[in-house]
Amino acid sequence: MTEEILVADPQERFQNILKIVKYRQRLSQMAISGATSLIVDFEDALTTDSELAESIIEEPDEYLEHANRAALAQLRIEDPEYAERIEEVDVRFKGLPIATSLRTLGSIHIGKLVMVEGIIIRSTPARPMVTRAAFRCRRCGTVTYVEQSSPFLRTPVQCNDPACRRKGPFEFLQEESTFIDSQQIRIQERPEDLPPGQLPRWLNIRLEGRELVDLARPGDMVAIVGVVRAVAPTFPRAGKLRVFRMHLDANFIDVVSKEPETVIISPEEEEKILKLTKDPWVHRKVIQSIAPSIFGYDHIKESIMYLLFGGISKQLPDIRIRGDMNVLLIGDPGTAKSQLLQYVARIAPRGLYTAGRGSTAAGLTAAVLSVRGGGMTLEAGALVLADKGVACIDEIDKMRKEDRVAIHEAMEQHTVSVAKGGIVATLNARTAILAAANPALGRYEPYRTVAENISLPVTILSRFDLIFVLRDVPEKEMDAEMTKHILELHRTGIVPVEPPVPADLLRKYISYTKNLKPVLTGEALDRLKDFYLVMRSASETEGTPIAITARQLESLVRVAEARARVAYRKEILAEDAEAAISIMKRSLEEVGIDVSSHKIDIDIIMTGKPKSLRDKLQIVLGAIVEMERETGMVQRSALLEKLESEYEIVGPDAERLLGQLLKEGTIYSPTEGYLKKT
Ligand SMILES: Nc1ncnc2c1ncn2[C@@H]1O[C@H](COP(=O)(O)OP(=O)(O)OP(=O)(O)O)[C@@H](O)[C@H]1O
Ligand SMILES: [Mg+2]
Ligand SMILES: [Zn+2]
Repeated sequence: MTEEILVADPQERFQNILKIVKYRQRLSQMAISGATSLIVDFEDALTTDSELAESIIEEPDEYLEHANRAALAQLRIEDPEYAERIEEVDVRFKGLPIATSLRTLGSIHIGKLVMVEGIIIRSTPARPMVTRAAFRCRRCGTVTYVEQSSPFLRTPVQCNDPACRRKGPFEFLQEESTFIDSQQIRIQERPEDLPPGQLPRWLNIRLEGRELVDLARPGDMVAIVGVVRAVAPTFPRAGKLRVFRMHLDANFIDVVSKEPETVIISPEEEEKILKLTKDPWVHRKVIQSIAPSIFGYDHIKESIMYLLFGGISKQLPDIRIRGDMNVLLIGDPGTAKSQLLQYVARIAPRGLYTAGRGSTAAGLTAAVLSVRGGGMTLEAGALVLADKGVACIDEIDKMRKEDRVAIHEAMEQHTVSVAKGGIVATLNARTAILAAANPALGRYEPYRTVAENISLPVTILSRFDLIFVLRDVPEKEMDAEMTKHILELHRTGIVPVEPPVPADLLRKYISYTKNLKPVLTGEALDRLKDFYLVMRSASETEGTPIAITARQLESLVRVAEARARVAYRKEILAEDAEAAISIMKRSLEEVGIDVSSHKIDIDIIMTGKPKSLRDKLQIVLGAIVEMERETGMVQRSALLEKLESEYEIVGPDAERLLGQLLKEGTIYSPTEGYLKKT
């Protein structure tokens, strides 16, 4: 009996699998799409002929050939004409029963068929690669063909013509050579598979053939079936290294959808979550559960809650509006910013923590790099890798200058476009961003504007929905409480206050609510509208031109949506709108309060100058112009006197304003002690 199976021709046994109706249909439809490959679900091989399936895994080089021939034989039955035309069919196997993790991939897998999963971090453009090169002998004109398999082009050893047999010279004939499309990509462990504190593992993948190249882009999650290879790198004089490098020759690529979260929620957990969502104190409880080891910062934790649950992105016929929020924390050293970010990266589904420079050459967005052996490769940066997740960017003010440009698009349109070195691509970066930055001057200076306090352009600042300032100022009562909290934490090694929602459940809770799309009720809408209009008109009547812009209105909606999601409500109620307004006010106040007039003024964020500062700058400039008209050149000391006596702008204030104008280049100093308008 076993005897019989062993002698049975593997090709015939394959063909038996392909007699399943599904494959007969697929084969007969190949001509329509001009396909040259047939996708076979590995499971069908397993159920029809498990022994054969085993052989495919163990000896793929031999058995894939059998499979290809079987497919061609079956195609001759289904569509003889097309079989005649294409002469070859590639069988691609989809979905091996288990995925081999990149972490365990090793020498035992060499030469075997495996399935690996990961996120694409790099890809070269698709390039033609010669598989059979034609050479013409310059002496006699005979054409010699050389099969190519190594990375370098091999020329004939000698001329094929028995009468010639000379060793060249030869001329490469492009038209008579055979090419296939090839591409190299690199995949990396998915952030969620990464053991804490470990560096991600990666693997290079070779894609050959029109039907494999350009299927996936950096940032895509993929499951790839292929044969593990090990190749020794060759060096010009020294020869081959004894340590081999692994890669995968791909047989099939499956781009895995990112939509469904990979979190499994048990019925008991679901019950717990639903019970929580009905709790009238649900928001408080979630806030208390966020980074419980960090003392205070309730408003920041509240914002983090909104960021984790997220608003709803809207796909309109013409535009797409992001639903994910961006939150920025600007703060003095040692105010637990990094700790908060690391916490969020752990708790958020698909969370990623990175420093502003990024952990790779691709930085935060993407980069085109030249690779060893020539050619270019596109590498995905942190925001692309965190697509559909949360990117926690520490020290965002230290990002690469290329990122400073590209991050504008990433933060609002959620894409990263690259056009460089022959690579043109648009990658997805649909992420919520939690960023932290240190003040440019070391400590936050409350008498300076946000833009003065942080070395980020206003155009980036205005893309944050909420901005908060963490200041390290001694405050007796708070200090006493915080000291107690921190010392207790160090003494016992446990959190002094037990979080109402354990971290593990919180993570599941967040994924659980992701599919809910709450809508604004009329009441909530009215609240938001009223607030917005009041803010707009207040500035109109009081002469402060812009108090709030459409960006803040969208932010308000996002916060309200997120708050409804936390309570797992289909409707956004007035209370959600009010909470959104109050956190927005808090953020505006922290960054936008005009210290001299105590009026909220979005101008600070938008232009980097509070309204009254701008007014004062205007006054100073006016005085300079006036004096110039009288005396030609403006003596600095005379100007300071005039400002103090006529406009009540005192010494240090005036110096600061002059400093600002000089820095901007509005005025300059032609000689020591004199000023002039440019
Ligand atoms: N409110 C707080 N509650 C508990 N621990 C705190 C608090 N503030 C600071 N710490 C502790 O202080 C230490 C410094 O925090 P962290 O490194 O996160 O500061 P940072 O704001 O990132 O500083 P830097 O700007 O210098 O990077 C941490 O060990 C943190 O736990
Ligand atoms: Mg830090
Ligand atoms: Zn010859």
